Amino acid sequence: MTSLPTSIDTTEDLLAKGGYVADRSLATVLYLALKMGRPLFLEGEAGVGKTEIAKVLAESLDRPLIRLQCYEGLDISSAVYEWNYAAQMVEIRQSEAAGSGEKADVFSDRFLVRRPLLRALEENGGRCVLLIDELDRTDEAFEAFLLEVLSDFQLTIPEMGTVKAEEPPIVIITTNRTREIHDALKRRCLYHWVDYPSAERELAILAAKVPGAPETLSEEVVAYVQTLRTKDLFKNPGVAETIDWATALMELDRIALDPQAVSDTLGVLLKYQDDIAAISGGEAAAILKEAKSKASAELAPAI
Ligand SMILES: Nc1ncnc2c1ncn2[C@@H]1O[C@H](COP(=O)(O)OP(=O)(O)OP(=O)(O)O)[C@@H](O)[C@H]1O
Ligand SMILES: [Mg+2]
Repeated sequence: MTSLPTSIDTTEDLLAKGGYVADRSLATVLYLALKMGRPLFLEGEAGVGKTEIAKVLAESLDRPLIRLQCYEGLDISSAVYEWNYAAQMVEIRQSEAAGSGEKADVFSDRFLVRRPLLRALEENGGRCVLLIDELDRTDEAFEAFLLEVLSDFQLTIPEMGTVKAEEPPIVIITTNRTREIHDALKRRCLYHWVDYPSAERELAILAAKVPGAPETLSEEVVAYVQTLRTKDLFKNPGVAETIDWATALMELDRIALDPQAVSDTLGVLLKYQDDIAAISGGEAAAILKEAKSKASAELAPAI
């Protein structure tokens, strides 16, 4: 297990080692969250790299990643633990059949099915990364329960007793902001809005994630995506789409953008027909022209 970073710079390096290009503000808040032992609450549009932070952190720190994927109706039996009823029934039957008169002990460890929150407290003594992904998809009752767990990192199983982490896990919470998360929970956390990256950072992300891409192609792809994000689209392309698009264009052996390649591959970048329709046609040429001039002006190395 790697020890925690001791400065903002080493936090940035740690993420970079895992292929994550963080800006200074993210590295700062992450460093503080680790230092202060507080959960990090990440909010942002889809595909901007929220989930990836937890994955990279776990890998770079060499700690297990435990993921709680939230959804509507998520309850304790899926998030914390449940009893294996089928196995308990078999045990009871067997003990009845044996006729020893002893009551079967069906509330013991081997009948307990551990779900992510319980595992996060137990595994490696709590020294893991707990990713609570897309918290906005759960309901408020679950949020209130989570608040309790995050306050003292302990859980009570009525039949067995209290489980407490030796060391609080590193907690990363993400949300897409489909609803507001309660202030009480936010107060426990350090907050960071994960924004779309600047052109410079997006280019660095492409260099890390699509290393074989020709330089001109990467620069034009980034400039194009950045231009698209200034348009009034229903759903802006995230970093994930930029990576996919560059990969797709490489697969098609392109070394730069051209109108045909753009129109053939728009579906990699935009996932709504209305957006594709709005961008196709006359506007496509204008955006491509704007992107090409941006790419050569802004992103070319200074002479
Ligand atoms: N700063 C970055 N450095 C490296 N890769 C990045 C960065 N930001 C995003 N990515 C890449 O973009 C992809 C999408 O990231 P991720 O799944 O973390 O997005 P998200 O914000 O969790 O999206 P959603 O809200 O849809 O779950 C991943 O493949 C990730 O590698
Ligand atoms: Mg995610």
